[in-house]
Amino acid sequence: MPTIIDGKGLAQTMQERLKETIAKETTMKTPGLVVLLVGEDPASQTYVKNKELAATRIGIHSKIERLSHTITQEELLERIAFYNRHEDFHGILVQLPLPKHIDEAKIVEAIDPKKDVDGFHPMNLGHLFAGTPEMIPCTPYGIMEMFNAYEIDLTGKHAVVIGRSNIVGKPMAQLLLAQNATVTMAHSKTKELAALAKTADILVVAIGRGHFVTQEFIKEGAVVIDVGMNRDDKGKLIGDVKFDEVAPLTSFITPVPKGVGPMTITMLMQQTYEAAKRQERSKLENKLS
Ligand code: GUN
Repeated sequence: MPTIIDGKGLAQTMQERLKETIAKETTMKTPGLVVLLVGEDPASQTYVKNKELAATRIGIHSKIERLSHTITQEELLERIAFYNRHEDFHGILVQLPLPKHIDEAKIVEAIDPKKDVDGFHPMNLGHLFAGTPEMIPCTPYGIMEMFNAYEIDLTGKHAVVIGRSNIVGKPMAQLLLAQNATVTMAHSKTKELAALAKTADILVVAIGRGHFVTQEFIKEGAVVIDVGMNRDDKGKLIGDVKFDEVAPLTSFITPVPKGVGPMTITMLMQQTYEAAKRQERSKLENKLS
């Protein structure tokens, strides 16, 4: 029988630990996170609400700034410049996707890399690539924490990552590589995808298609990580992996929900705390010098 990786439970444990750590920081300013939410996308609303609830639970000061879908790129850039200067907010997160008239790359690049708790800024992605990570994209970071917690050794293993986004697939590959996995990046245009996936000891699926991965993709005993968050025709949340038929073949598998999702939020909180610590320390050093 496979071990079902309890992302929710691990997230709760880590959040509890973080809450205690923050409570002990009596001299430091409360870590602050601002989330900029443009428009009314229902999925984004839910994600942002969950981030706010977690922040409050942990003792991180959070603010959601809701902006109209008609906001111009210039106006949004101004809001980012405002929060780059604002001393109460150590983390800035712009919820994606953005409306089509806004250039997402320009927005991400406008965030001060020190406040980029999502780890999406090219500077932070470059650090990850160079093997000197600073801010790490939260979903792949959370997945690495799962491997660590369940003592899943990656050295020499063949890891196949399906999906090549800047948010998940590309940084995931870098993190796996840094832990000595042999990494193959696959995507929707990969030929013979099921046959390739079947050679994976570790299969990370972030393709964004509900129940895309079936039995034919799985090697006996593989570790399967499902990053998918899709709705079926009844509105139920489903992963990219057909869990019921895939699970019996695996050694470890993450469920959806209660798998990767809660870990993403946890790593966001962790990085907000670490960013706050670095920024407050550097303010102190500047004052003393
Ligand atoms: N949209 C979907 N996932 C994410 C995320 O991790 N961060 C941001 N900013 N937007 C997202």
